[in-house]
Amino acid sequence: NVQIEKQIDSAAMIDAASGMVDTWVHEAKEYARTGKCATYIPALAEANPFHLGICIVGEHGEKQMAGEWNVPFTMQSISKTISFVAACMSRGIDDVMQRVDLEPTGDAFNSIMRLESHKPGKPFNPMINAGAITTTSLLPGSGADEKLAGILDVLEEILDKRLVINEDVFLSEWRTASLNRALAYYLEEKGFLSSSVKETLEAYCRQCSIEVTSEDLAIIGLVLAHDGFHPFKNRQVFPRDICKITKALMLTCGMYNTSGKFAAFIGVPAKSGVSGGIMACVPSRGKQTPFLGSGSYGIGIYGPSIDEYGNSVAGVHLLKRLASEYDFTVF
Ligand code: DON
Repeated sequence: NVQIEKQIDSAAMIDAASGMVDTWVHEAKEYARTGKCATYIPALAEANPFHLGICIVGEHGEKQMAGEWNVPFTMQSISKTISFVAACMSRGIDDVMQRVDLEPTGDAFNSIMRLESHKPGKPFNPMINAGAITTTSLLPGSGADEKLAGILDVLEEILDKRLVINEDVFLSEWRTASLNRALAYYLEEKGFLSSSVKETLEAYCRQCSIEVTSEDLAIIGLVLAHDGFHPFKNRQVFPRDICKITKALMLTCGMYNTSGKFAAFIGVPAKSGVSGGIMACVPSRGKQTPFLGSGSYGIGIYGPSIDEYGNSVAGVHLLKRLASEYDFTVF
């Protein structure tokens, strides 16, 4: 009965691993003290800064969860990966690249500084606010609702459910979006927006307010890790080339002006949001994690206490721990 013994062995390993993930979450929570919840969008300040949850999903449906993995939160900047995918699918990569570059900035995510000095009006990349606002303007449809639908459609294709907008967060952001409005007016003036400032910004603030859990992020990360192949549906849901570019953008720009250090010490494509979410894609490299085997997997994290760059402090710490335990860098 080698088969049964093997099963018992792997069940024991999974139990042990799940205990370790619990321990690491517990340890990482301490780091939440060094950050704080975003306040520039007032509704985000209401989150519990000591929440920390993680969900890891493997290609055969294996799952590991720990901490507050099931607490809903808004996607914020993580939605920029999906609006980029949706814009590229409808316009083609070359067309999108006419309006937004693919270069990291080293500046804050909402910086306005180099919009004027570098190819005036052309944002450096679709992961900073200026680039994401531009990308959202490129989505098909004439109003904010239609543009948002393009993003929700992509998410529905992955998750098999229609995600909803957190109206409180949306209104809170909409009322306090002066800096994003300034970026959008500048972009419009220079001819980079493809729809009006009002409808573009409404769609942008709504996409940032899409509500998810860490499990949703893990599944999206898993599909991206598979270059758009959905392992549960057993079919390609997005073009491979678009997914590869999206992951390159996540690696070089996804954690903003700490993307270099994130690549050095964690080394996987990831995208953060100011609500404290992080979505990461871990490609298959043949190294086994006890809980997920050797395949690729997606990771979703929620930890709303963020650092000065806009990244979850405890979340980054937890990922660093996992990356060193399981050597999951792409390098
Ligand atoms: O536009 C904003 O400022 C927010 N809705 C999103 C920014 C964000 O998530 C940056 N991420 N770390």
